[in-house]
Amino acid sequence: MQYLEYMKILAINGSPRKGGNTEKMLRTVLEVCSTGSVETAFFQAGGREVRGCKACGGCGKHKGECVQKDWVNDLYPQMKAADALLFGTPTYFFDLTPEIKAIIDRTGYISRHDDFAFNRKVAAAVAAVRRAGAIHALDSIQHFFLINGMIVPGSSYLNMSLALGPGDAEKDAEGIQTMRDLGENLVWLLKKIKA
Ligand SMILES: Cc1cc2nc3c(=O)[nH]c(=O)nc-3n(C[C@H](O)[C@H](O)[C@H](O)COP(=O)(O)O)c2cc1C
Repeated sequence: MQYLEYMKILAINGSPRKGGNTEKMLRTVLEVCSTGSVETAFFQAGGREVRGCKACGGCGKHKGECVQKDWVNDLYPQMKAADALLFGTPTYFFDLTPEIKAIIDRTGYISRHDDFAFNRKVAAAVAAVRRAGAIHALDSIQHFFLINGMIVPGSSYLNMSLALGPGDAEKDAEGIQTMRDLGENLVWLLKKIKA
């Protein structure tokens, strides 16, 4: 299988704004991670129709499957196959976007009924923010990582960029450096774990 030789990082963009600040941040992390033994993939979640968890218990009966056959259900096997998950969200009213929340609730529940499939994956989150609320948004995502046994690398600051309009993330030099340092640490950790 390919991912026995290549370590795979899957980035998920929760911003509906393609080419926006969150995407720039994610791609900066991925650029650093893209070495010979690491394969990266990018999934655009923001802007897709959102359906939350129905709490029907269907994923408990159909291991690894949600009864709602949509993009979140299709994303789950890609997340399961990845060695590392990289989530990105813009800060919306001090929190994450509904697309990311739908992924968390639904794939989180599916994975727990699928032998805790996310256990010991490397996972990190980044958040774009105009002014305030990124820490809360990052915490929301990191709680999901931590209660599902994922291992979270740090950076040189919290994984945020101060940005409002598209292109602003590139002007935040400390934010860009934080993304680069996160990429270095993410790939370092991944290689240690997979060695
Ligand atoms: C609905 C909505 C809510 C927002 N809430 C906040 C907020 O609570 N705090 C903040 O600093 N910025 C907030 N913003 C600004 C975005 O976080 C900021 O523009 C970010 O850079 C957008 O990232 P993107 O280009 O990836 O979409 C909000 C923007 C929108 C559209």
